[in-house]
Amino acid sequence: MRIAAIAAALAAGFMMPATADSYTLNTLDGSPPIVIAHRGASGYLPEHTLGGYELAIQLGAEYIEPDLLLTSDGHLVAIHDTTLTRTTNVLEVFPGRESYAVNAFSLEEIKQLTVVPFGPQASTEYPGFTPSTADPYKVPTFQEVLSFLTGYNAANGTEIGIYPEAKNPNSTLMNTQIIDQLRGAGYNSAADKVFVQSFNFAALLELDEYQRGLGSDMNLVMLGGVGITDGQYRVGTTFLSQIAEVAQGVGVSNNANLTRDFVEAAHGLGLLVHAYTLRPLTAEQSDEQMLRMFELGLDGFFTDYTDRSLASRNALLPDDGSIAPIPLPAAGWLLLTGLGGLLIARRRRTA
Ligand code: G3P
Ligand code: CA
Repeated sequence: MRIAAIAAALAAGFMMPATADSYTLNTLDGSPPIVIAHRGASGYLPEHTLGGYELAIQLGAEYIEPDLLLTSDGHLVAIHDTTLTRTTNVLEVFPGRESYAVNAFSLEEIKQLTVVPFGPQASTEYPGFTPSTADPYKVPTFQEVLSFLTGYNAANGTEIGIYPEAKNPNSTLMNTQIIDQLRGAGYNSAADKVFVQSFNFAALLELDEYQRGLGSDMNLVMLGGVGITDGQYRVGTTFLSQIAEVAQGVGVSNNANLTRDFVEAAHGLGLLVHAYTLRPLTAEQSDEQMLRMFELGLDGFFTDYTDRSLASRNALLPDDGSIAPIPLPAAGWLLLTGLGGLLIARRRRTA
C-alpha cells in the first residue's frame, strides 16, 4: 500500500495504529464509514426505482435507501414525497385529480406511472448500464425492493444492506408492515445489514416495541437536525439520551450544527452517526466533503452519487482495513491540512 498515504493520515490524526499491522479511525467501532445510496442512484437515474437501486449497487453502494409511504389501499411503496407530482408523470396519466397525494392513489393506479429523473445530472439512462428488471422505472413496492435486493445478493454473493425509512404520515399499519416484510425477507437481528430510520420518534418507539414482540432486534435510526438545549444534544426535538434507549444510531443533517463534539456525545452513548445528504457534482467537491466526514468521525453517509463518494472515501483508507476508535486531535486545522495533502497525493498517484 501507499506508505506515504498512511504516513500522511497518521500525521493528520484521523488514523492511528492499532497494532503493528492495522489502524483505527474516529468512527464508533473503527470501521470505515458506510456508503448509503440515497434514494438509489438518485443523482443519475429516476429516484426510488429498481433501476436506480441496481445502478447504485453496481457503483459500489453498501446500503440502498428506500423511503416508504402507504398507498390508499395500504401498500408500502418506495417514494420520497407525500405527493406524486415531482417524481412521476402523474399529471399526464391522471389529469384533473383533486389530490395527488400518494395516499390518495391505489397501488394499481400508481403502477401506471413512470418515475422521472430529477436533479442536475439525472437522466433516464446511465452510460453502459442495462437494468436487469422489467419496468425498472416504475414506483416499486417495498416488497419488490426487498425481493430485488435479496435476489441480487443471492445471485451475486453480495451482502448489500437496506436502510428503509418510515416516512410521515406515519401509522401503525406502516410500521408493522415494514417489520413484517423485513422479517419475511430474512432480516431479523442487529447483526443483519438493515437500519430502519424515521424522523418520527414515536414511530421508532412503535417499531421497536412491535419488532421486540416478535423477537427481532433490527437496528433503528433517529433522523433529524442536530440541536442543543441546556447543554444537551438533540436530534430533531428528541434528546440523544432518549434516542439511545431505543435506537442504535442517528441520521443527521450535514450542516454547521453537526460538530465533532456532537459525534463524540453520540458515540459516548453507543450511537452510530450517519449524515445526510452528500450531493457532490464533481470529484473535487466529493473529496472536500469526505474530509469533513473523516474529521467528524462519522460512521456513514447518504449520497446521491455513490461512485464519487465511494472513491473519495477509499482514497482516505489504507488498503488493509482498520479497527477501534480514537479521539479527534485538538488541532482541527492541522487535521484538515493533512487530509487535504493526503487526497492530493492520492489523486496524483492514480492520475
Ligand atoms: O433518510 C436520510 C435522508 O434521506 C433524509 O432525508 O428527506 O431525503 O428522506 P430525505
Ligand atoms: Ca430518506
